[in-house]
Amino acid sequence: MSTQDTEQYKITKEPFYEAQSNEVALYSAAYGERLPMMVKGPTGCGKSRFIEYMAWKLGRPLITVACNEDMTASDLVGRYLLDADGTRWLDGPLTTAARIGAICYLDEIVEARQDTTVVIHPLTDHRRTLPLDKKGELVEAHPDFQLVISYNPGYQSLMKDLKQSTKQRFVALDFDYASAELEADILVKETGIDKTTAEKLVQVGVTARNLKGHGLDEGISTRLLVYAASLIKGGIAARDACRMALVRPITDDSDIRSTLDHAIDAVFES
Ligand SMILES: Nc1ncnc2c1ncn2[C@@H]1O[C@H](COP(=O)(O)OP(=O)(O)OP(=O)(O)O)[C@@H](O)[C@H]1O
Ligand SMILES: [Mg+2]
Repeated sequence: MSTQDTEQYKITKEPFYEAQSNEVALYSAAYGERLPMMVKGPTGCGKSRFIEYMAWKLGRPLITVACNEDMTASDLVGRYLLDADGTRWLDGPLTTAARIGAICYLDEIVEARQDTTVVIHPLTDHRRTLPLDKKGELVEAHPDFQLVISYNPGYQSLMKDLKQSTKQRFVALDFDYASAELEADILVKETGIDKTTAEKLVQVGVTARNLKGHGLDEGISTRLLVYAASLIKGGIAARDACRMALVRPITDDSDIRSTLDHAIDAVFES
């Protein structure tokens, strides 16, 4: 692997990340032991941003793979390609990460089929190896390599959950939406919006999160609050921005929509 490969995946600028608790210290300790890490939490609460921040802080390249149910083990590990000169092996993202000592972030790992998931097993125990069966090569992971997976608890069906033999190869950190004060601060720093408007947006978020399980599958994420904040910052009226960014995407139920629309009107009345 050339240094160019490593440089390509390096995060050069510090990502903005506001810590919720002691997750930075805990992650650093886990990385120190090169323990595989699982980050759990609802959509849009800051998991991916946290991993980007940690990769930057630890000075490691980051390779992210969005997993899906059509993904095969070859998509992760690599395959032979046919070209004009014959066949040529191309490393997949997992193999590249293991070779260059990157942090490999498998986003939404449960979406992948179980036969795909098991390829990470030898990499995530004492062996720290990755067999490339088709190529007849055993890759020894670089000492700095670490595997990270994300997991949205609650979305899993029985068919789609991870096997215990996979789960029990990881340490895990729970994530949730930031506290109201912290979340408003995130909106201010991320979008440049004023504090009062940020606090109002968070209030709408909190209202919606209370409807989870009462007509809403999932509350409004920090990501959507950031969308609304940036629309308002760009000059869109708060009520319109909130309807478009916070309500229309998450539900088609007319009762819930009108409950949320009323909440928005009440919050942005003054
Ligand atoms: N602690 C935080 N510090 C800074 N920004 C944050 C934080 N939490 C959330 N955000 C903001 O929320 C957005 C969504 O976060 P992120 O993409 O990390 O969510 P996620 O948990 O990975 O969601 P998903 O499960 O859908 O992938 C970020 O782009 C960022 O703007
Ligand atoms: Mg993510």
